[in-house]
Amino acid sequence: MRKIVIAGNWKMFKTRDEALQFIYNVNMEIPNREMVESVICAQAPLLRDLVKRQGDNLRIGAQNMHEKSEGAFTGEVSAALLENIGVRYVIIGHSERREHFGETDESVNKKLHQALRYGLTPIVCVGEPLAVREKGETDAYVEEQTEKALSGVKADEMEDVVIAYEPIWAIGTGKTATPEMADEAIKNIRQTIGRIHDAGTADKVRILYGGSVNTENIGELIAMEDIDGALVGGASLSAKNFLKMLSIAHEHINK
Ligand code: PGA
Repeated sequence: MRKIVIAGNWKMFKTRDEALQFIYNVNMEIPNREMVESVICAQAPLLRDLVKRQGDNLRIGAQNMHEKSEGAFTGEVSAALLENIGVRYVIIGHSERREHFGETDESVNKKLHQALRYGLTPIVCVGEPLAVREKGETDAYVEEQTEKALSGVKADEMEDVVIAYEPIWAIGTGKTATPEMADEAIKNIRQTIGRIHDAGTADKVRILYGGSVNTENIGELIAMEDIDGALVGGASLSAKNFLKMLSIAHEHINK
């Protein structure tokens, strides 16, 4: 049984006051962590405050980190510091970082190794642009991204890796992949992990769907066999919606 993960990706939204208000509003109501893992990934300057105020059932994540432990990399954040202040998750290779900040499959792979070294749970993003989907090449594209991201990661480390399948055309557009499309792509990612390692290892890896997930569609997505949760952008900014999505996820824990 894979435990469902609901991760909010706040992107470059929320001031400190807004972030603390959110935590205050959700803390008491988050379902038991034994059932559903809930995570909020926030801008770096908010992380320390959020970690200090998180309840037992909420985990805090970063949205990016550097692949090196320290050095002359102005403006970057190290995994060592994230771990040191109590951050537990980190998004790696989000398509916005690949598109606007030059992240490549190679840098994603280095960051993934670094995150594991520091005991952070990486949420590794893969997903195809619209043109690739229209050409019918989604499977090959996502397989290659997955293989490159996971290169050199050992089978026994895979249990600590979370993958998010986020088709780029669905992010922030209001266009969600149908549950069937998302499940098919996620099955393909799981099979890819099975080929790299073995079916038992692949079976343990949590693979989320992301891209215009909201309170209306999260239920049908999570109901699918291979979808183990969601990476949620816009809809995670509201405490009410985040809690609603967690409670819907909770209804699917024994699917
Ligand atoms: P969205 O973003 O839910 O606003 O589409 C998802 C993401 O970018 O992770």
